[in-house]
Amino acid sequence: MISSSHVTYDDANMGKANEGTSEISDKLKKAHERIETLRNDGAQGFFDLPFDGKIAKELERMAKEIRGRGIKTSIVIGIGGSNLGAKTILRALDEGKGAETIFLDNPDPESVFPFLSPSFDWKKTILLVISKSGRTLETTAIFDALWKVLKKTLGSTANEHVFIITELVSGNPLFERAKQESFQVFPHPTNTGGRFSVLSAVGLFPAALAGLNIRGLLNGAKEMEEARRKEGIKHLAVQFAARQYIALIQGKKSIHVLMPYADRLSQFVFWFCQLWAESLGKNGRGQTPLPAIGTVDQHAQIQLFIDGPGDKVVTFIAVEKMMKQVKTPSGLNFAKIMDASRQGTAHALTAQGKLNGTLTIPSLTPESLGALFQFFMLATAYLGELLEINVYDQPGVEAGKKETMRLLGLGS
Ligand code: PA5
Repeated sequence: MISSSHVTYDDANMGKANEGTSEISDKLKKAHERIETLRNDGAQGFFDLPFDGKIAKELERMAKEIRGRGIKTSIVIGIGGSNLGAKTILRALDEGKGAETIFLDNPDPESVFPFLSPSFDWKKTILLVISKSGRTLETTAIFDALWKVLKKTLGSTANEHVFIITELVSGNPLFERAKQESFQVFPHPTNTGGRFSVLSAVGLFPAALAGLNIRGLLNGAKEMEEARRKEGIKHLAVQFAARQYIALIQGKKSIHVLMPYADRLSQFVFWFCQLWAESLGKNGRGQTPLPAIGTVDQHAQIQLFIDGPGDKVVTFIAVEKMMKQVKTPSGLNFAKIMDASRQGTAHALTAQGKLNGTLTIPSLTPESLGALFQFFMLATAYLGELLEINVYDQPGVEAGKKETMRLLGLGS
């Protein structure tokens, strides 16, 4: 059992992956040194984001002002790292107390069409456009289409309904446009890639607009990061990464299943999948992330996990105390059903020699969610160092974007 702020890892069923960690302690020390250099040089910003109370204060002030203007809906336009974090926060914590949030990412005409109507309540709506590069086709296309309707409907005040989060660098078309049209802009940190940006304005502004406690998110992440800096290679995230490394390299576990037993974490697995896949899938290496949800996947994928090929490691996420108490008329506690189901599944996996571990949070709060975000970003960074992969680029994604632009005759 390894613990850090808000998160405990039960590695009892990780078998040989536990035994090998002392053998790779030199590798872990080197990984830690490289990560500390990346942090100290400011080359990677996600380590320091939880400490930025100034941006949190500014976002809270702005969100309050916007809600005070009678805004009831925020349409968040962005894709990949530019919306998965916010989607995850909202799915986990939103209680409907602030603005309603609509996410538009895919340029699927069926999804975008309902928002092209002038009869939509544009006076009570804002567009929040998020793109680090300011060039992502899906995002700019959806924004262009909605901006046309918004401008036609609201005229000279339309620009007060548009907020942009992008990198403040000259040549960024979205930034240039924001200046021309007088849209309000928040910076996307230059030293932070999309999938590591959840604790910047990218994830926090949509959350603040929905009335959520963004300080709590930052505090949970900060405690996790402070513990890492203090504990070095003994830290939970480093030890978790070490076990995944051994499982992958020695145990040939090429698939990582993340399976929370909480509906409110159902979006978290997609945030994790992007982080794990896009960061670690390089040079023929990496581990394929696979989303699952307990108990639902006990009636779908679990047969394969237990009885299929031994190419997987399963990480469960357990929530110790659910926010709501529900019982059947005969007194059977729903939270206990979830818990027993998770334990039963872990037992069945172990009986078949299938590696599995469990991350437990005390309850699903802004603090524990922030800690989980920071934990997985750190684990990704350490696993990447162990695998000698550049975690922070995405050449495959860029190649696909470039070819799409060529096929559409839009230049690169
Ligand atoms: O994590 C990443 O780097 C990517 O998934 C990007 O977030 C995604 O491609 C969108 O890019 P941008 O924010 O530049 O629009």
